[in-house]
Amino acid sequence: MTVLATSPSLADVRGEFPALQRRGRDGSPVIYADAPGGTQVPKRVVEAMVDYLVAHNSNIEGEFDATVETDDVIAQARLAAAAFVGAAEDEIIFGGNMTSLNFNLIRALGRRLNPGDEIIVTQLDHEANVSPWLLLAEDRDLTVRFIGVTDDLDIDLEQLQGALSPRTKVVAHTLSSNAVGTVPPAAVIADMAHDVGATVWVDAVAFAPHRRIDVAQLGCDVLLCSPYKFFGPHAGLAWIRRSFAEELVPERVRPASMYPVGHRFETGTLSHEAIAGVTAAIDYLASLGAGSDLAHQLDDAYSLIARHESGLSERFLAGIEALPQVTLHGTQDVDRRVCTFGLSIDGVDPAAAARWLNDRSIYSWNGNFYAQGVMEHLQLPMEEGILRIGFVHYATTEEVDRVLDAIAELGEVSQ
Ligand SMILES: Cc1ncc(COP(=O)(O)O)c(C=O)c1O
Repeated sequence: MTVLATSPSLADVRGEFPALQRRGRDGSPVIYADAPGGTQVPKRVVEAMVDYLVAHNSNIEGEFDATVETDDVIAQARLAAAAFVGAAEDEIIFGGNMTSLNFNLIRALGRRLNPGDEIIVTQLDHEANVSPWLLLAEDRDLTVRFIGVTDDLDIDLEQLQGALSPRTKVVAHTLSSNAVGTVPPAAVIADMAHDVGATVWVDAVAFAPHRRIDVAQLGCDVLLCSPYKFFGPHAGLAWIRRSFAEELVPERVRPASMYPVGHRFETGTLSHEAIAGVTAAIDYLASLGAGSDLAHQLDDAYSLIARHESGLSERFLAGIEALPQVTLHGTQDVDRRVCTFGLSIDGVDPAAAARWLNDRSIYSWNGNFYAQGVMEHLQLPMEEGILRIGFVHYATTEEVDRVLDAIAELGEVSQ
């Protein structure tokens, strides 16, 4: 049916990732069910980073060859990132990670906000799109309104509607929960927010490995993500609508005002090797699809990824449903989620579960994942949290089955 759903081509895809050769504690190949914490990288990302450091390493904007080449590496990355989010290259911002970029951008907006202005955040979000707003609110005497989640762990739109008013300046929300995989209806939320004149500020970190980002379709004004979650190196990437960026005074050194809008928000010297790796990661993703240009290739690639991952999700969800000792937190609806699953196993500490899986060569995560609102809603202690199993497109159905078998065995022995 698709490139990814047929095993020979999935084998080709997997062949691009050297880490998938790793063997684990019991001698079998490692299953990377830890993907929401960060994905593995294809060879071309490693090669691009090494090539940059070996052949072009320099600072920017000089008059000798290596520095001109470095400028070109960054310019290429802006073009690739622009295609990745569906925007213009001067609206792209690179940084160390999503969290630092977000603190920085939110500080820049803060100067324009006045006491009594309101910010909406959600209980579904990672703290990186909550805590910076709380700190800003303290400094600027703003009001932060928290929107709760529904029983199946989606953003509660009724609550959102009730909280919106002409005082609302920002609606900040995630495009996908990093803890339980929900994908809220972003375009609906954007329309609701724009109706009262609010800016829409989205966290795409947990969305980017699974679904195509198109800022026009999403209707957002600011979007942030992390290339290390979508097959690239550790770095941060943001997009800001040009007209909005032009209204802000970035937290930057004075001469930076002469740069294009997005670039103005980049503080200090970036990791050029990581930026070279970001281009290679986007190029890798595009190589999974067909099309006349990078954007169309990405469209096609993501539709293949979504289809393959939905199959993995359906299989995993059916397997978990058959295990009475295991609780799935969140929706069963594969159209409203990605393949990140938050689980609790009766009588089993999530850390012990992750160790059990590691002994079977399965990497997974335990904890709260800075999804404080979700943990509070589930009334789970932050220090304990949940077990998180997350797949990306290089996972196979056999791997899903191996994870299910290991969880089933753990559920039985702990009775
Ligand atoms: C949904 C979500 N938002 C934000 C972040 C923070 O990203 P970064 O590590 O790039 O700061 C994470 C990290 O796990 C995340 O999962």
